[in-house]
Amino acid sequence: MNLQRTFQCALLQSRWVFFLLQIISLFRVGAPTAIKNSNNDRPFFVEPVPNITVPVGRDVNIPCVVDSLGNYGVAWIKVEDKVILSIYKNVITRNYRVSLTHSDNKHFVLHIANIQESDRGGYMCQVNTTPMMSQTGYLDVQTPPTIVSLETDSNKTVREGVNITLRCRADGQPTPNITWRREDAGRIPLITETGKRISVHSFEGEELQLLRISRLHMGAYLCIASNGIPPSISRRILIDVEFPPVLWVPNQIVRAYLGERVLLRCYVESYPKAWGHWKKDATPINDSLLILSSEVDRGSYKQLFVLHISSIDEESFGTYECSARNTLGWAKGNITLYERPRAPTTTAEPLLMENQRQVYYEPNIPPSTPVQLTSTVTFAAVKDQRSLGHSEQTKRNNINSGSSTKSVTFLFVYFLYYVSFTGKFSQDF
Ligand SMILES: *[C@@H]1O[C@H](CO)[C@@H](O)[C@H](O)[C@H]1NC(C)=O
Ligand SMILES: *[C@@H]1O[C@H](CO)[C@@H](O)[C@H](O)[C@H]1NC(C)=O
Ligand SMILES: *[C@@H]1O[C@H](CO)[C@@H](O)[C@H](O)[C@H]1NC(C)=O
Ligand SMILES: *[C@@H]1O[C@H](CO)[C@@H](O)[C@H](O)[C@H]1NC(C)=O
Ligand SMILES: *[C@@H]1O[C@H](CO)[C@@H](O)[C@H](O)[C@H]1NC(C)=O
Ligand SMILES: *[C@@H]1O[C@H](CO)[C@@H](O)[C@H](O)[C@H]1NC(C)=O
Repeated sequence: MNLQRTFQCALLQSRWVFFLLQIISLFRVGAPTAIKNSNNDRPFFVEPVPNITVPVGRDVNIPCVVDSLGNYGVAWIKVEDKVILSIYKNVITRNYRVSLTHSDNKHFVLHIANIQESDRGGYMCQVNTTPMMSQTGYLDVQTPPTIVSLETDSNKTVREGVNITLRCRADGQPTPNITWRREDAGRIPLITETGKRISVHSFEGEELQLLRISRLHMGAYLCIASNGIPPSISRRILIDVEFPPVLWVPNQIVRAYLGERVLLRCYVESYPKAWGHWKKDATPINDSLLILSSEVDRGSYKQLFVLHISSIDEESFGTYECSARNTLGWAKGNITLYERPRAPTTTAEPLLMENQRQVYYEPNIPPSTPVQLTSTVTFAAVKDQRSLGHSEQTKRNNINSGSSTKSVTFLFVYFLYYVSFTGKFSQDF
């Protein structure tokens, strides 16, 4: 029909639809049959136009059911932009995703294929009575989360002790929830509003506050946005926490036989990674002796520096200084290597023994001697002198040493030191 063609060209504004429906209505009223029908029953909506919620990409059908329509017409109009989608049985909009099915001059179902976010809004089913009748249903389009990069933090490098806030924002419908986790599934140390220290596996919220940040915070964090519409999305944020080296020498005193192999060890925590360096009696050591100088865990801030002496000779005895340096500072520790005289009898057993037979603790260290460490760690001297009652035989064979009581005390001091200082080390070493 020519008239309908005219609609399609000219009618894209809704103010026209009222007008046009009015004209059409007049036309029909002019016809004899139309008068009869329209005077008997006024059209009425059988059911409300439903509200529909649908994920993006789906197809949707929006029904409008009008009884006793007679010669009146039904139009579908998008409320927000006032675009006419259909009039009577004809699709007006040029949006190819929109189509219409009708039956019995009663059911007018609007189909929208491959729903887009722009389809969100009100859909008005209008009948050209006077006054006009209408019903509106709302289409809500759900979208999976997307991370808003501009409002989301990226990798950070911070000094130990500062406070930082990690932010992560995501769009999506419904509004996504944000969850923070560590990539390695470890715990996140937090300080609550009341100042209590806690650690959690995950944290909900756009902002993750890390107060008085420490090396324990170092690592990869994931901010995960989810709103029930797959797929969830995550963003990886690396936190590097910088601090000067802290150095720990487990065996300050090493005692070995001539000809033995000895490993001198120095544990270091540091970020950025530290350079290790050894001196003997204040003279730098040829680096080729540093056969092992390794990270304890890949990507961790823990390192182990080892000085390997393959065969001890007279020159080997003395004080070895291990030092670790990074851009923020340095730390040093001493290890003294003494000769252990050959025992005259085979009944002698070493007083104290490490895993490797070659390495002995020096028993002659007074309990109040501080551990030779230049780090931030201090510890109290231990006054409790306990004896484990060593045999006369052992005492006799320990020619160079003081008493076994002292040596045991040292072990005890060392043990306390280990327990109090290490904490973190203890799992690894
Ligand atoms: C659709 O939602 C609107 C509010 O957004 C409400 O007024 C109306 O009653 C709802 N319609 C149906 C059929 O539930
Ligand atoms: C964060 O650091 C990682 C590893 O260094 C890198 O691959 C990634 O691109 C960085 N991310 C940003 C946003 O700079
Ligand atoms: C970090 O936050 C804590 C607790 O809010 C506060 O006591 C401290 O002064 C802050 N530190 C810095 C460096 O801003
Ligand atoms: C967000 O989390 C709250 C509380 O856990 C939950 O009630 C709500 O349904 C979640 N919202 C979405 C979109 O998943
Ligand atoms: C270190 O030792 C290697 C082999 O033992 C030797 O070739 C090199 O010259 C030494 N370097 C220094 C600086 O002494
Ligand atoms: C290590 O010993 C040397 C002397 O041999 C001394 O000058 C230095 O201060 C000691 N270093 C530490 C960390 O105790």
